[in-house]
Amino acid sequence: MTAATQWRLEIPEPQKADQTELHPQLNRAHVRFIGLGKTYNGQQGPVAALHGIDLAIQRGEVFGIIGRSGAGKSSLIRTINRLEQPSTGRVLIDQVDIGHFNEDQLVTLRRRIGMIFQHFNLMSAKTVWQNVELPLKVAGVPKEKREQKVRELLELVGLQGKHKAYPAQLSGGQKQRVGIARALVHDPAILLCDEATSALDPETTQSILGLLREINQRLGLTIVLITHEMAVIRDICDRVVVLEHGRIVEQGPVWEVFGNPQHEVSKTLLAPLQHALPEELQSRLQAQPQSSDAAVVLRLQFTGSATDEPDLAALFAALGGRVRLLQGGVERIQGHALGQLLLAVAGSSHSAEELHQRAAQWAQQVEVLGYVV
Ligand SMILES: Nc1ncnc2c1ncn2[C@@H]1O[C@H](COP(=O)(O)OP(=O)(O)O)[C@@H](O)[C@H]1O
Ligand SMILES: [Mg+2]
Repeated sequence: MTAATQWRLEIPEPQKADQTELHPQLNRAHVRFIGLGKTYNGQQGPVAALHGIDLAIQRGEVFGIIGRSGAGKSSLIRTINRLEQPSTGRVLIDQVDIGHFNEDQLVTLRRRIGMIFQHFNLMSAKTVWQNVELPLKVAGVPKEKREQKVRELLELVGLQGKHKAYPAQLSGGQKQRVGIARALVHDPAILLCDEATSALDPETTQSILGLLREINQRLGLTIVLITHEMAVIRDICDRVVVLEHGRIVEQGPVWEVFGNPQHEVSKTLLAPLQHALPEELQSRLQAQPQSSDAAVVLRLQFTGSATDEPDLAALFAALGGRVRLLQGGVERIQGHALGQLLLAVAGSSHSAEELHQRAAQWAQQVEVLGYVV
């Protein structure tokens, strides 16, 4: 299989992007949105789905798009292969403005950009083999080449033994593997995934993510991925953008956005990944110490900006007294330690205020939640 990294859009295009010359970083961007807006003609009048989107997706990265339902995620991703036509602004692929492409150019563009969907979009009357072969047939690829390509791809996605099966005979994960194989038939440079794992159980999701990661690394594909499952973003994406009402409200490396989300929407979306205060503890928590032996409850948050994991012995020594671990842990995302610790500190000579200050030497964010006996 030819590596996709070398691919460039080979379509002569009179209007080259202008300002990008000044920005080497943007110049290397695989996909760029410049002042992108999209307004639909809805039945009750115009629906503004995207406003002023400026964004660069780098070659070879796995880029995540998150946001609430209706935020404009699908609209955005569908402008990359012009399934949606922007109302304002531009989309550049390899610095080529795709806005004025004619039908022939669009056909070429879409062959170079694979897409997979939540509901797989397979043809139920065709076998696995035929589903993957069809786009090659449509493109007029000779039989021998088709057979070689389909065989290669079905092997890549782990469906060697399923050539003759029909979609109805496959599990959800297998169907999506067919979808992925079909999306790769023209050696695309970009793979678009719109909620591609949303119909799958967690275990199957993991195996599909593993496959996507392998494709990203082995074939050098740029992957743009929409999901409402934050764990998917955490496990596979390099960078993430958060959309709300058609605008970008936050973007950055996954560890940074997940470690310290700034916008309300990001915080809400990421809440399922955070460990909530255990209910039993919450019910015992008091705002003021009710007795002299009450323990101070501290929440320490590690947002990934420090390079090392916390040194617990040093932390506990600095707090003094008896430190109990109520809940917590850290995980590593892109080499950064993220997580939180809930600690109860009893019998320390330090006030709650002092404990707060001392703990702040180890954690990026510290909160005194209250007191427990
Ligand atoms: N074909 C369409 N016609 C009219 N309105 C649309 C159409 N497609 C999407 N919308 C509207 O645009 C907004 C963004 O939709 P969408 O991009 O699908 O969001 P998301 O994928 O984040 O759920 C929503 O308000 C949606 O109702
Ligand atoms: Mg959508």
